[in-house]
Amino acid sequence: MTFKALVCPALGQDLQIQDIPRQDLTTHQVRIRVSAAGINFADSLLLTGAYQEKLTPPFVPGFELAGEVIEIGKDVVTCKPGDKVLAAVIGGAWGQEAVAHWRDVHVLPDAADMTQAAGFPIAYGTSHLALIKAGLTAGETLVVHGASGGVGLTAVEIGAGLGARVIACASSDDKLKIAIEHGAAIGLDSRSDDLRERIKELTGGKGADLAYDPVGGPAFDCALRSTRPGGRILVIGFASGTVPQIPANILLVKNISVLGFSWNAYRTIDPDAMRRSLADCIDLWTQGRLHPHVSNILPLEQADQALGLLKNRTATGKVILQVAE
Ligand SMILES: NC(=O)c1ccc[n+]([C@@H]2O[C@H](COP(=O)([O-])OP(=O)(O)OC[C@H]3O[C@@H](n4cnc5c(N)ncnc54)[C@H](OP(=O)(O)O)[C@@H]3O)[C@@H](O)[C@H]2O)c1
Repeated sequence: MTFKALVCPALGQDLQIQDIPRQDLTTHQVRIRVSAAGINFADSLLLTGAYQEKLTPPFVPGFELAGEVIEIGKDVVTCKPGDKVLAAVIGGAWGQEAVAHWRDVHVLPDAADMTQAAGFPIAYGTSHLALIKAGLTAGETLVVHGASGGVGLTAVEIGAGLGARVIACASSDDKLKIAIEHGAAIGLDSRSDDLRERIKELTGGKGADLAYDPVGGPAFDCALRSTRPGGRILVIGFASGTVPQIPANILLVKNISVLGFSWNAYRTIDPDAMRRSLADCIDLWTQGRLHPHVSNILPLEQADQALGLLKNRTATGKVILQVAE
């Protein structure tokens, strides 16, 4: 038995649709018929060998998907064939079928929108667990850089939901409008020269309590200068392409804590916390308290164009590959 999937034949080479043979499931795995799959910034890194997890070509890329369970391993009790689910995987999402560990599979209500579900796990999972681990509390000021992007927009929404006053930073008025629609109190143009002064002004000269940074480079520098003494910075990613080098003297003088956060790493650090956090997000979504934003839906064959929308910064929220009707 075979299914069609996009395959990376060699690092940096064009993706190809190929027929893939089905593998037997292990006792803990779930086989899913994929409806739609998410695009992540990390896919570009995976496809060039620059991601922290390395896959050896040929491989099927893709970190997240939504679909219907078609088979379960003999020890799986958390879902059954016929269930609508979303799942996170490390490679393997961009095909008609995917296989995931049961821990990374969550059952959805029948009414769930499968396009939104496909882009849900990584963005919401990352921002929810990161903001909880950073101890964000109601009344604090949270600055979100890259606030209209995949993870950034969910940090805005979850931060506001936790009662924080969210200052969103993004590179256009349209992007800031989306961040404000998702709960930001204030939007600031990240291209302006006086970004850090504006954050200081908006916090009565004190600085923000917490900065969420998926961008790196100038955004991290801004975070370092505009976070209050005793505040925290969450290092989420480096979409700018520049990994910040931290002057430790500023951390010392300002008593700032820089918190590294990798959602993937929670599979080993604390898989139960990771599963609970994503389940909480799905509950919030089901209650109508989260509003996943999808800017573009493309067919599976157009994954390269979909990745281009992230690289050229035209996407907002999530870009989704439609796999089945
Ligand atoms: N730590 C984790 O567990 C975790 C989980 C998911 C993602 N990430 C990381 O977080 C980062 C963002 O991922 P994502 O999937 O949310 O990406 P995304 O949807 O493409 O969002 C990235 C945002 O960064 C901003 N940006 C600034 N400079 C950029 C540049 N040179 N190229 C592209 N975007 C730029 C863009 O906003 P403006 O145009 O407004 O500046 C864009 O909205 C990536 O580094 C990714 O690897 C980390």
